[in-house]
Amino acid sequence: MKKDSKIYVAGHRGLFGSAIMRALERNGFNNILTRTHTELDLTDGAATKNFFEKERPEYVFVAAAKVGGINANNTYMADFAMENLLITCNVLKAAHETGVKKLLYLGSSCIYPRNSAQPVKEEYLLTGLPEPTNEGYAIAKIAGVRLCDYYKRQYGDDFVSCIPANVYGENDDLDPEKSHVIPALIQRFHNAKLKNLPYVEIWGTGIAEREFMHVDDGANACLYVMEKYEGPGTINIGLGYTTSIRELAEEIRQVTGYEGEIRYDATKPDGMPKRLLDSSKIDILGWKPQITLREGLNSEYSWYLEKAAGGQK
Ligand SMILES: NC(=O)c1ccc[n+]([C@@H]2O[C@H](COP(=O)([O-])OP(=O)(O)OC[C@H]3O[C@@H](n4cnc5c(N)ncnc54)[C@H](OP(=O)(O)O)[C@@H]3O)[C@@H](O)[C@H]2O)c1
Repeated sequence: MKKDSKIYVAGHRGLFGSAIMRALERNGFNNILTRTHTELDLTDGAATKNFFEKERPEYVFVAAAKVGGINANNTYMADFAMENLLITCNVLKAAHETGVKKLLYLGSSCIYPRNSAQPVKEEYLLTGLPEPTNEGYAIAKIAGVRLCDYYKRQYGDDFVSCIPANVYGENDDLDPEKSHVIPALIQRFHNAKLKNLPYVEIWGTGIAEREFMHVDDGANACLYVMEKYEGPGTINIGLGYTTSIRELAEEIRQVTGYEGEIRYDATKPDGMPKRLLDSSKIDILGWKPQITLREGLNSEYSWYLEKAAGGQK
């Protein structure tokens, strides 16, 4: 990509899309095209086609998606499947028809089979069923990842896809119904500190291990893939290591300055013992994450204080 290439970031105000915007700006790209959901609804095929025909972006990052928590995904499965299928089909079709030079499509680690061996390799996709509670979302995202391959194989389009680990960071969703473990714990420890609560209780034993990647690392990896990866198939983006919920909770306790106790309710489920992507493909390409958990948590807590808690310390 040249610094003045016309780059469209779909979903530029979301968690991932806003990090891609920051990464592009940090790297000096100066011709970035955006539309809010209200300005351009990507489920509308005609509007999407018109937009691509008029604006002719050269590079496209697809970070627009209908995203939600387990409950929303399970309850509104038709909407999650349909809206994501429409966004995927409309954007990829318009990009193909208008000769986009390169497109990067964001998948999600929840599209891998629920019972995948760990760490999860790219080739495990479609070797088993995804988690039933987000099956509709997963089917739409699997379609997107595979469509990138099909367009590349049939037409030679340079469409690639990435499957990032769970990310956290600026613009995380703070709605308790939807929020991921890190923003949820930051809010709970912060509130416990304000109210002087003697302890914070966490579901499960705390021994489950997850991969927690800062979204700025995820976005940098997307830029890296956009500029350096031309091969077939999807590419995992992860850290290559996990952190236990116990270690995470202790880090967040220190970052928020909460001095009370952490208790674990072992009667509640832990979920899968370990979730880790095999990121050797991007590792071999030469990309490495830069942000430590402590740095990432410090920055997310500052953002939380500024944006969500109205600056209360
Ligand atoms: N969050 C994670 O941990 C994570 C990890 C790996 C991969 N990903 C992937 O990254 C992508 C983005 O996720 P995210 O967490 O950044 O989600 P997000 O914060 O909810 O952002 C999604 C963005 O898409 C926009 N959007 C939704 N429907 C649209 C439509 N019909 N037309 C135009 N824009 C639309 C949203 O705009 P509005 O807000 O205005 O609706 C929002 O800006 C998804 O494909 C997800 O699977 C996320």
